[in-house]
Amino acid sequence: MKIKNICCIGAGYVGGPTMAVIAQKCPEINVTVVDINADRIAAWNDEDVENIPIYEPGLSEVVKEARGRNLFFSTNVDSAIDKADMIFISVNTPTKTYGIGKGMAADLKFIELCARQIARVSKNDKIVVEKSTLPVRTAEALKNILDNTGNGVNYQILSNPEFLAEGTAVDDLMNPDRVLIGGDIENPEGKEAVEALVDIYAHWIPRERLLTTNVWSSELSKLTANAFLAQRVSSINAMSELCEKSGADVKEVSKAIGMDSRIGPKFLQASVGFGGSCFQKDILNLVYISKSLGLNEVADYWEQVIIMNDYQKKRFAYKIVQTLFNTVSGKKIAVLGWAFKKDTNDTRESAAIYVADYLLNEQAEIVVYDPKVKTEQIYADLDYLNTRSSEENRAQVSVVDTPYEATKEAHAIAVLTEWDEFKELDWEKIYNEMLKPAFLFDGRRLLERATKEKMGFEFYAIGS
Ligand code: UDX
Ligand code: UDX
Repeated sequence: MKIKNICCIGAGYVGGPTMAVIAQKCPEINVTVVDINADRIAAWNDEDVENIPIYEPGLSEVVKEARGRNLFFSTNVDSAIDKADMIFISVNTPTKTYGIGKGMAADLKFIELCARQIARVSKNDKIVVEKSTLPVRTAEALKNILDNTGNGVNYQILSNPEFLAEGTAVDDLMNPDRVLIGGDIENPEGKEAVEALVDIYAHWIPRERLLTTNVWSSELSKLTANAFLAQRVSSINAMSELCEKSGADVKEVSKAIGMDSRIGPKFLQASVGFGGSCFQKDILNLVYISKSLGLNEVADYWEQVIIMNDYQKKRFAYKIVQTLFNTVSGKKIAVLGWAFKKDTNDTRESAAIYVADYLLNEQAEIVVYDPKVKTEQIYADLDYLNTRSSEENRAQVSVVDTPYEATKEAHAIAVLTEWDEFKELDWEKIYNEMLKPAFLFDGRRLLERATKEKMGFEFYAIGS
């Protein structure tokens, strides 16, 4: 079975880059990415390729090469579904904010809407690929809707979870550790569908890295991978506090344990807390599924990863308050970095939002600088928490274009994203223009302590 037309529903951080790379690597396949958000589609189609809505190193070059050739962005969802042999569902699955499972379960309403739309429009057989991270056995629900509301056409459901990390999305897509494809491999039609997707990835990925499993293993592997990764961050963050109290240095501890090949060196960077659209949501989802199945110990075990992460953000904010003589009321605090990690403009669940919120509760005056995040996004993130009115957020928080404006006459600086450019700032100038004592809080272990202390900073870093 040769795929000629692909449709992807959802032009977000996952759908956009993934489809751009598939289109670039498979010039004979037409790839149409659709989204209900017309502004987002317009941005993907912007004549100036630098204006595409998602910032990822290397992405604009890929889009430039394929767009208009075999990569298209459109709001015409029906037409793209109709033409496609294979449909990727890459819409968002946020944590539910209402009803049963509120604050824990994944909200699948967008997935269901997609399924119903596919069922309504399709006139020939389709392979439907779950790209969004979903609770185990969602594929079953999808199949049920498609088979019972459709026009009698056949559907094969595949699970093909995305493991790309933001900031390195293009590289992760070009050169993944593995690609996971789950399908109904016990049946010939299912096997054929799996092979069709394998053939697409085999355009640029060695076949031994294309892993095929049954659908449920694939769905659960994605949640498990994110839970394990997040758990490593929470584990090293737990040790960071112990280091601070005991005179050890978490960087040295990370290095020492990371050299054990059974542990490995990656994902052992202590921080102000993990963020991003996936870790928290997926673990909450895992906790919810475990609880629903009566596995309370399993649920409690994973929930602790989130509890530790929330604690780390709060602990950092309180450290600032405590160090600034127990009050930050009316004091200017410069926040360097708002994105949840470097090299992305994504702020979902960013630690910076929560640290700022705690400091605002203490009546601090916050000035934010981030090289990629837009001003409106910063206000939207704070407003979303609903801690105070949006007028109050605008009165207490300002957003500036340079780090020097942010830090001028500040009482303290909090480094909350590990942007490379923060290492290269003129720290001498920053020190000279700050109020004294000049406090510098490094939530990312980005800056060198010795040089900063020599300049005169009162320096605090997570984990030492
Ligand atoms: C999302 C999920 O967060 C993640 O769990 C999953 O693995 C992949 O999809 P992301 O791409 O980062 O990740 O989400 P987002 O940037 O919000 O993009 C989703 C897009 O889907 C949005 O542009 C939204 O407008 C669109 N959408 C949503 C539709 O086109 N139709 C819908 O019915 C719902
Ligand atoms: C994650 C997974 O890595 C990816 O496989 C999945 O598809 C989506 O979720 P992402 O959220 O984009 O990707 O970024 P990631 O690099 O995993 O970082 C997540 C958060 O953990 C960031 O806030 C990062 O700063 C933090 N982190 C990561 C640490 O604090 N310490 C570390 O050692 C690593």
